[in-house]
Amino acid sequence: MMLMTPGPVSVSQKILDAVASPVIFHRAEDFAVLYQEVSQGLTEQFRGSDKHISLLFSGSGTLANEIILSSIFHENDKVLVVSNGDYGERIAKILMMHEVPMLHIQLEWYSIIDPMLIREQLQTEGITAVAMVALETSTGMVNPVKEIGQLIGEYQDQKITFFVDAVSAFGSEDIDVTRDNISYITSVPNKALEGLSGISFACVNLEDYESRALLVKPQSFYMDLSKYIEFSREFYTPTTPSISNFLPLKLSVELLAEETIEQRRLRYEKLRDYLIQGFSKYGFLPIIPESKYRAAAVVAFQVPSEVDADALRKYLYQNGIVVWSPKHYLYRQTIRVMIISVMGTVRQSHIDQLFELVQTYSNPK
Ligand SMILES: Cc1ncc(COP(=O)(O)O)c(C=O)c1O
Repeated sequence: MMLMTPGPVSVSQKILDAVASPVIFHRAEDFAVLYQEVSQGLTEQFRGSDKHISLLFSGSGTLANEIILSSIFHENDKVLVVSNGDYGERIAKILMMHEVPMLHIQLEWYSIIDPMLIREQLQTEGITAVAMVALETSTGMVNPVKEIGQLIGEYQDQKITFFVDAVSAFGSEDIDVTRDNISYITSVPNKALEGLSGISFACVNLEDYESRALLVKPQSFYMDLSKYIEFSREFYTPTTPSISNFLPLKLSVELLAEETIEQRRLRYEKLRDYLIQGFSKYGFLPIIPESKYRAAAVVAFQVPSEVDADALRKYLYQNGIVVWSPKHYLYRQTIRVMIISVMGTVRQSHIDQLFELVQTYSNPK
């Protein structure tokens, strides 16, 4: 099976082999060495400084988001959430569950986030934090994190906390926590890092955390960020981690450092452009018209109305190619999209195979 889904992705044999390594004890030195290597490697890839640390959590991306979002805010906060898709809306849902005061600007899916909208709120609304998604996986849209980060830098005396969900963006999009004034950023190994699901992580600006730590009280025993920070000082986790995921993650981080984010992005862009060009012959067009807002590795195509999306998805699946075909709303109208990713071990030959299958599906002999 070739996963052309936006995570998990198909991974190389090297990564799979790393899972079969002997189990180590999470309170012994070899684990601490492994934790330190992975954590430092991630901080480097996030372009962190000596103010930043990366923490590892045993669970999916939502866990990393919920640990941070439930641990850093208090009743005097006002968090501005700007969403334009499913995962942005999920940030608002998590904050709501934890009763964090919030202003949610809920844009239509696929609409472009205008940084000026954020500027207006920063000037007038008593906002203490901004939370957003970097790459809205549900639509394949890249949001202007860099521009919003710059704005936040201009309002330095307001000490705005900036939370970014980079679950899909990390490893392929242009992210720099130092340049972009990001206080907390989260991601997972199983997307552009080309590794395995089961772990998630966050890169934290300790200055921001320390300025907040005394004002918040833990909402949960298991999701208490302060415990993760405390244990990470000795390179351990508060509870038993998903140990067999650590070696593959170390390898994924090393492979990313070797290839570099810039080169990986170029590799994805080439495949993405090949995919978009070839797929247009079958009437599948990217739903985001402006190419500058399209992600390097994830494209949402509108399924032509004459195509039965479920039947096509099933046909592809039966022939070894897995894609994601959810129902979406666009301007309050139900549409079918096919979300295809070129992350992981996807190569041009797999895209050719996809085209051949769509061809035979459309014109059966
Ligand atoms: C942008 C974004 N945020 C959060 C998540 C949730 O991650 P998970 O399914 O790993 O909990 C996803 C999942 O694809 C995502 O794409």
